[in-house]
Amino acid sequence: MRNTTRTRSRARLRLAGTLAAVLVAAGVATGPAAHAGQGHGTPLTLARLAEQHGRYFGSATDNPELTDSAYTALLGSEFDMITPGNGMKWYATEPQQGVYDWSQGDEIVRLARQHHQRIRAHTLVWHSQLPDWLTGRDWTADELRSVLKKHILAEVRHYRGKVYSWDVVNEAFNEDGTYRETVFYKTLGPGYIADALRWAHRADPHAKLYLNDYNIEAVGPKSDAYYALAKDLKARGVPLDGVGLQAHLALQYGYPATLEDNLRRFSRLGLDTALTEVDVRMLLPADEAKLATQAQWYADLTTACLAVRRCVGLTVWDYTDRYSWIPAFFPGEGAALPWDERLAPKPAYFAIREALGGR
Ligand code: G3I
Repeated sequence: MRNTTRTRSRARLRLAGTLAAVLVAAGVATGPAAHAGQGHGTPLTLARLAEQHGRYFGSATDNPELTDSAYTALLGSEFDMITPGNGMKWYATEPQQGVYDWSQGDEIVRLARQHHQRIRAHTLVWHSQLPDWLTGRDWTADELRSVLKKHILAEVRHYRGKVYSWDVVNEAFNEDGTYRETVFYKTLGPGYIADALRWAHRADPHAKLYLNDYNIEAVGPKSDAYYALAKDLKARGVPLDGVGLQAHLALQYGYPATLEDNLRRFSRLGLDTALTEVDVRMLLPADEAKLATQAQWYADLTTACLAVRRCVGLTVWDYTDRYSWIPAFFPGEGAALPWDERLAPKPAYFAIREALGGR
């Protein structure tokens, strides 16, 4: 990342922190209601600020949370892109072979449409959260290819015209850049990725098709593997539109300083990029210093995306610590999102606003 961009974003962030402190000291509401509207004197939402740069600002969500009306009020107003966190995964959509259940995904699509939000659909081919009927037996290559093809065609057809994009293949590589030994790789070889993209394209020619993974924010062996694969797929005319960088970051592991360069090299291949599952976790308890560093990282992620023309937007992996996946998966860690468990905005929220040019 260029130093000037970082310095500017740091200065803006200090200003944001000061402004937030002044507002709090003055007793001005900084809670969700203060940020939801867009009338005179009301701050623009993250979505509106991002739109001014031709980007979106999204959040993941999950079906059980949709009964929480304070939560859905912010979800419906602050964001313009929604990702179902679980409801479109294979275990949810084809719980028995050939028996489809679209109810969870449909509920989120319906809610998003009511709020004029688009959908980043997630995900078609992943080694995790597969149905038992698929993991519970061995398949020949012909059988598995047919099962995979049917699943992709059925799901993408069901949501045809209703989603902006699909994470077609999720988490296909190991940290060292070798292929992850999933049931798909082991049975079908690396060609399953091109096949999945072609089938998805056939079922919805207008959906943007992505490969998506974590720990590919910086330039390194894993992102190099995506770069090489993407280049090869493009050269062979396989329908690939973008690469999603999940950006599940942790304060204790350092900021991916080469993010902007990395985004730029994918752009040069003629691909979109997106930050698709952003969160910045920390060792608990949170304190002022950690929250300030976290805010800086959110600002830097936002600034990096704005700096690269084909970085189309950012999505946080849910927007509030109330519904984050982190504490269950990383005991002792959390506080990863821009809104806290009470749905109050944190320094990270103000930092994102500043990075997007909001006052
Ligand atoms: O549905 C059951 C419910 O019946 C049961 O009562 C409950 C008890 O724990 O578990 C529920 O299933 C959970 C499921 O989420 C739905 O809430 C699983 O235990 C839990 O493991 C699962 O976690 C999801 C995780 O993917 C699985 O790997 C997270 O919510 C989801 O946010 C997370 O998302 C992934 C992305 O898809 C890919 N990138 C990484 C990201 C974070 O892991």
